[in-house]
Amino acid sequence: MPMGFVAAVVAYIPALIANSLAVVFGGRCIIDGGRELAGRRILGDGKTWSGLVGGTLSAALVGIVLALLFNPYLHMYPFPLPGIYIIVTMAFGSLLGDLFGSFVKRRMGRERGAKTPVLDQYDFALGSFLLTYILFPGWTRTIYMANGGWIALISIILLIPLLHRGVNILGYRLGQKKEPW
Ligand code: CTP
Ligand code: MG
Repeated sequence: MPMGFVAAVVAYIPALIANSLAVVFGGRCIIDGGRELAGRRILGDGKTWSGLVGGTLSAALVGIVLALLFNPYLHMYPFPLPGIYIIVTMAFGSLLGDLFGSFVKRRMGRERGAKTPVLDQYDFALGSFLLTYILFPGWTRTIYMANGGWIALISIILLIPLLHRGVNILGYRLGQKKEPW
């Protein structure tokens, strides 16, 4: 398997796990503070500062450990810097995408936790790729568009519904998540 592919997948792990970790740390300090926009919650009770900050930091920590272990072989990014910035951006972008997804869901009149296909699976992927591309365009192009990276990008996009479903069922079984989606 080409190393570029493996590097692209491993570099994406912080973005993939940020949402699950937000479930673990979430629940404190609701971001919208109960405020509404045109009669509907801006984000809803499911989006908290503890989830956003705790999810970002813990996913980034996992990313840093992965970088310490594998960057010497995979050359994902210059480490520690800007590697750590990229890792934090991936995790934070993922949770920003999740916030954006909830914002859209509330505008659609869906209550917190209501199942929303496509948006539920792809909001975080959009957020992580977009923010990382905006802040580190050269890096994103190199790792996700060259050296087998584009195969990784397509694989990640295709596998996301499965991975997302898998971690959510796990979170549900472990009693961390209210719904298995
Ligand atoms: N969570 C959090 N803060 C975040 C993201 C998630 O506290 N920024 C926690 C909340 O406890 C939330 C759980 O993780 O209920 C599951 O996240 P998610 O499925 O994104 O939220 P939902 O409750 O389903 O709400 P929504 O309909 O807005 O997606
Ligand atoms: Mg949900």
